[in-house]
Amino acid sequence: MSAGSQRRLRATTLIGAIVVVSLLHYLTPTSHFVLHPLLQRAYYIPILLMAWWFGWRGGLLAAGIAGILYIPHIVMAWGANEEYSIAQYVEIGMFFVIATLIGVLADAERRQKQKIQETAAKLSETYAQLQASVEQVRRADRLSALGELSAGLAHEIRNPLGGLDGAVQILKRPELPAETRQEFAEMAGKEVERLKSLLTNFLDFARPQTPRKSFLEPELLLQSVASLVSETARMAHTEIRVEFNGTGQIAVDAEQIRQVLLNLALNAVQAMPDGGEIVLRSRQEGGSVILEVVDQGVGIAPENLERIFDPFFTTRAAGTGLGLSIAFQIVQGNGGKITVSNNSDRGATFAVIFPLVSGEPESVPVRKATA
Ligand SMILES: Nc1ncnc2c1ncn2[C@@H]1O[C@H](COP(=O)(O)OP(=O)(O)OP(=O)(O)O)[C@@H](O)[C@H]1O
Ligand SMILES: [Mg+2]
Repeated sequence: MSAGSQRRLRATTLIGAIVVVSLLHYLTPTSHFVLHPLLQRAYYIPILLMAWWFGWRGGLLAAGIAGILYIPHIVMAWGANEEYSIAQYVEIGMFFVIATLIGVLADAERRQKQKIQETAAKLSETYAQLQASVEQVRRADRLSALGELSAGLAHEIRNPLGGLDGAVQILKRPELPAETRQEFAEMAGKEVERLKSLLTNFLDFARPQTPRKSFLEPELLLQSVASLVSETARMAHTEIRVEFNGTGQIAVDAEQIRQVLLNLALNAVQAMPDGGEIVLRSRQEGGSVILEVVDQGVGIAPENLERIFDPFFTTRAAGTGLGLSIAFQIVQGNGGKITVSNNSDRGATFAVIFPLVSGEPESVPVRKATA
């Protein structure tokens, strides 16, 4: 039912009720001393409701109709009893007073309600606008991150290209001794290698794989990383030690986390030009499993601690600066966290933290890492 027809129905019913009460007045013999005062009070119900639903105008209209219908009855039935008649007229006066009072109150309440509704509507509109601008800022942020990334990539490509160009120019000279030719050809080869690893790393970074999680013991991962870097470490006069402290299991993509730990271990070897020891260790703390790579290298300058996970940040001439940003992304994609801190004596510690999982999760296929 529409609001308009509901109002019409209400008004007709209430005025009908006033007419019915009036008819009952006329039809009830005056000898009924109890019924008459009751019927008279019965007028209040439709008058009150009219005032409440239609404001003071509706209330006065109802009071007016009740008065007009009721006055002839007073004159006809109670004309002889002056005292009772006066009381009846006063009662009619009360109809008007009550109708006005309730009507004014109802109007005020309606205005208040409307104001609240308007405020709510304005608020939700403002909220929608705010959300739209937050979305806009986010998009701008993503675009600027993309711009920065592309600028970084262009810069990183330009350096090896410059080296390559220089080497090729020299190689073009016909009189070049064979030894020098060999040297520059090797230099060109190195630059090509650098470009290749830059692009491979960049693709890893730009197109992260969705993790295929399995349930595994982190110790197996540490062990396999230790064997993978053992040869590189040996050549750099670095020892690798694996320390297990009985952690529980974690649910991660074994291949991806192996790559992360491998990156961290290689960084550690590169940070220790004078050799030393690298410890790969696991421990459990609260509900988390922590995998750490501890080195005795040069450590990280405090001003760089914030930047080492940024793409292209590197202090190594041959580095792409993508290793740690890829590690960061992978760990995050696997539901973990990666942190770094300098050790109190020397070197740095990288920690990869995952939630400990208990019981066999049904949704995760069991696929243990091979060491
Ligand atoms: N264990 C570490 N000790 C000291 N500094 C480190 C360590 N690991 C990383 N860093 C610093 O963080 C920088 C960024 O590391 P990241 O692995 O992202 O790039 P990279 O090692 O320079 O290059 P790539 O990984 O492509 O070989 C490094 O250049 C180095 O300055
Ligand atoms: Mg690295």
